[in-house]
Amino acid sequence: MGASEHLSFCVGARAPTEDTGDASPYKNMKKPFYITTPIYYVNDVPHIGHAYTTVAADILARYKRLQGYEVFFLTGTDEHGQKVQQAADKRGIPPQQHADELVVRFQDLWKRLLISNDDFIRTTEQRHRSVVQTVLKQLWDKDLIYIGMYQGWYCLPDERFWTEEELREGKCPECGRPVDRISEKNYFFKMSQFQKTLQQYIKNHKNFIRPESRRNEVLGFLEKPLGDLCISRPKVRLEWGIPLPFDSDYVTYVWVDALVNYISAMGYSTEPKRFKKWWPVDYHLVGKDILTTHAVYWSTFLRALDLDFPKCLFAHGWWTVDGEKMSKSKGNVVDPNAIIDELGPDAFRYFLLREVPFGQDGNFSREALIQRYNSDLANDLGNLVSRTLTMIEQFSDGIIPQAPFSRTADISNIIQGLRDSLEDVINRLEFHRALGEIWKLVDRINRYIEEMAPWNLAKKTRERERLETVLYTVAEALRFIAIYLSPFMPNTAKEIFHSLGLDPLPPDALSPQVRESALGGAPLAGKHIRKGSALFPRIEKKSGVALQSSTIESASTTSKKSCASIEDFRKLDLRVGKVLSAERITGSEKLLKLIVDLGTEQRQVVAGMAKKYPPETLIHKKVIVVANLKPTRLMGVESQGMILAAGDKEVAALATFLEDVEPGTTIR
Ligand code: MSP
Repeated sequence: MGASEHLSFCVGARAPTEDTGDASPYKNMKKPFYITTPIYYVNDVPHIGHAYTTVAADILARYKRLQGYEVFFLTGTDEHGQKVQQAADKRGIPPQQHADELVVRFQDLWKRLLISNDDFIRTTEQRHRSVVQTVLKQLWDKDLIYIGMYQGWYCLPDERFWTEEELREGKCPECGRPVDRISEKNYFFKMSQFQKTLQQYIKNHKNFIRPESRRNEVLGFLEKPLGDLCISRPKVRLEWGIPLPFDSDYVTYVWVDALVNYISAMGYSTEPKRFKKWWPVDYHLVGKDILTTHAVYWSTFLRALDLDFPKCLFAHGWWTVDGEKMSKSKGNVVDPNAIIDELGPDAFRYFLLREVPFGQDGNFSREALIQRYNSDLANDLGNLVSRTLTMIEQFSDGIIPQAPFSRTADISNIIQGLRDSLEDVINRLEFHRALGEIWKLVDRINRYIEEMAPWNLAKKTRERERLETVLYTVAEALRFIAIYLSPFMPNTAKEIFHSLGLDPLPPDALSPQVRESALGGAPLAGKHIRKGSALFPRIEKKSGVALQSSTIESASTTSKKSCASIEDFRKLDLRVGKVLSAERITGSEKLLKLIVDLGTEQRQVVAGMAKKYPPETLIHKKVIVVANLKPTRLMGVESQGMILAAGDKEVAALATFLEDVEPGTTIR
């Protein structure tokens, strides 16, 4: 088999007509695929738990797009209710202002984490509020809401009522905090009426609630009589919510409000054609703690509205931190931004989904993160990419050669089998196994290089054809790795494609059309490789920034700045620096590596200016350097100072001087 045959084998190994299974993407060409995350409370800044679901949903969305589905990926924020009201009260600002400030933290984080959501819904938006009111009106008109007296135990932080029997040692069974006895007039949804239908449906549809252990939990819950659900809160007690359309003294219970986001964003009752296209949702991804609200409350609402149940409701596990529950009071809340600063978005995405099977609980620790980074990313993948490029550079003048011989059989088998095995495990949301499958190819190719020792082949002219076959095989394997890795690590996939001299990866590279034309007909042989800096520079375990955050108190966008004394100010060693060189840092859109002349010495400084300034525009610029900051590492690159610029999260303008000044001059 020659190089051209390698290509025809490329990704499109199976013809569309051969597919018979229902799960086949060929039959489902351009079929809509709708996926959601929970909408997150804006009572505090986002943490690793929020990032987890959102990254998982993003991987699924990207994978389905790659297969040629028309994907709609929804996320957003839950902005009403007691928790948000309390957080705003604590800051002494109106809840809407609080929500407006906090929502940016989520939106910014999703951008940094390369989240490809198609919409972002906020429950305070009019498009949502009006659908919530329509839904309530419809249930009221159907006589599925009634007014009653509520007497019960109320957990304020959880915003949930409990019956006497449900309390654990007189406290909230969920969070263990004290509860208040409350008796008041309220509105109820006739949830009990739908118990049997729901039970039956879950029993008949094995894949509705997953994983299976969670499905059993819900079935267990439904063994007991299901009560009706209190869906209102008197305004005297809570004002921050959507008013009931039939009684303006009440607002909607925050969970009713929140759950409706899944249909309000899709045009329920406002855009019937659009809604019909997307509903029922393919996957609701949620954490295990909010499974009941989804499996029971949401399902019964849907049934009451004569809407189909979701196709799948998947509950994932929880992260602990160093073996402990994450909590503000313990100060161990993991800040995703700090991890991205240090390792970049791809490494973080990789860790989240590789470390723990989706569905099970897992533990986060800095050691585990660095261990995974160094072994899987720096050693295995990063090394494979860099040695491949170096060999092509050294032994083939930087051009990927034709492959005169056929590929080693077991490598062909791995590549051939990968597409199907990935489809299988990703459809079951076994992300860790999907990555494991991809790494089998990474490992095999690393071993193949050792076995074939191209550096020895290169010494003998008569081994030229074998050498070319090895180089081609390795480059081709890397292309497959990049395609399959692209939903998990979008930037890395992009970098690998770029370094192989290829055009950007088509977003639907695994769809039948693209696969048949062998990835848009891009032949590898003859491509000029483009070598950049290392994808994943090794990280020393000891170095690095603190990953714990950053709660609303410390990270608030409007927190009042405390006064600095003149002594505080004098502690800073501010100097004039002259930029000698500037280059982008691989894998980061934002960061530049600068070498700056401080008069007596040169410093390496990492600056977040890449979006504002192309590196070459900074050469010879005079800048203000904070010269006595403790060195830190960003994306694996040491930074020995900081450069000042105007702007908050984004750089607006570099601070510089009107006159020419000598590098090293002190700034007062
Ligand atoms: N606003 C509701 C959801 C409404 S959906 C219609 C809510 N918001 S939340 O911000 O408190 O939590 C959102 C998600 O974060 C939940 O799925 C929850 O499971 C997840 N996590 C919170 N802490 C977590 C961990 N420590 N680990 C993993 N996920 C965690 O609930």
